[in-house]
Amino acid sequence: MLSLSDIRLTFNPGTATEVKALRDVSMQIDEGEFVTVIGSNGAGKSTLLSTVVGTVKPDEGTVKLDGLDVTDWPAAKRARYVGRVFQEPRLGTCSSLSIEENLALAAARGKKRGLGLALGKKGQKAMFAEHLEKLGLGLEHRMGTPIGALSGGQRQAVSLLMATLLPMKILVLDEHTAALDPSAAHKVLTLSAEIAEERKLTTLMVTHSMRDALAYGSRTLMMNAGRIVLDIKGEERSKLKVSDLLERFGRAAGTEIDDDQLVLA
Ligand SMILES: Nc1ncnc2c1ncn2[C@@H]1O[C@H](COP(=O)(O)OP(=O)(O)OP(=O)(O)O)[C@@H](O)[C@H]1O
Ligand SMILES: [Mg+2]
Repeated sequence: MLSLSDIRLTFNPGTATEVKALRDVSMQIDEGEFVTVIGSNGAGKSTLLSTVVGTVKPDEGTVKLDGLDVTDWPAAKRARYVGRVFQEPRLGTCSSLSIEENLALAAARGKKRGLGLALGKKGQKAMFAEHLEKLGLGLEHRMGTPIGALSGGQRQAVSLLMATLLPMKILVLDEHTAALDPSAAHKVLTLSAEIAEERKLTTLMVTHSMRDALAYGSRTLMMNAGRIVLDIKGEERSKLKVSDLLERFGRAAGTEIDDDQLVLA
């Protein structure tokens, strides 16, 4: 279980650029739960995810994984539990290296912690090919291709694989399909849901699409000005339509959302 208690975080405190990015955020996410996170620009979604990944340390509050207090753990130490895929396809992978080399880098992260893949180079390659085949993009036949030569969607699919290659528990997806065209985005979202389901990963996915927020996962959080203002699951969520969510979104933000395209895109 992932639990955040009374998390507060202020950027640049006491200066003209002070931002209260997280104000008293608490949430508990069950093992295997897939949570979508929505909210307007600057609401604190990425910052929330960063406190889970460990790249940002809260001023107050605690982050616990399976009851273990990891608040003071740096991101590197949490990497065995948490995998992240970024919005920008270029960020998660190394462009000049091949698909195989990128995957080998991801696999090597486990070596330090004694999870070395005692497969040898050949065995490892076969294992990568098997994983790539599951993506259904034919990338298993292009393992020598530099990542930079792939489309954004293919690249995000490989990023997803890299983030989840080693045994881990929590998958953090921060608008990881925002830079993709609709069909590639759909493919990558489907893959994300499949991987999360198959591996029983606890997943946090930020999206700007209300439709995707309801279509994927089993629970939806809405953030506004550093707070969680809506937390829905179960029957209440299954009955909710995109228009209802938009209305609540507007109410929470104190504005009417008149440009549906912006949030539905
Ligand atoms: N490193 C930082 N230094 C200073 N301010 C920051 C930093 N990171 C985020 N902020 C500020 O904290 C607030 C929350 O930012 P955050 O990136 O979490 O928003 P978001 O909900 O992810 O928005 P978006 O939808 O635009 O990605 C914003 O006002 C942002 O400007
Ligand atoms: Mg963000």
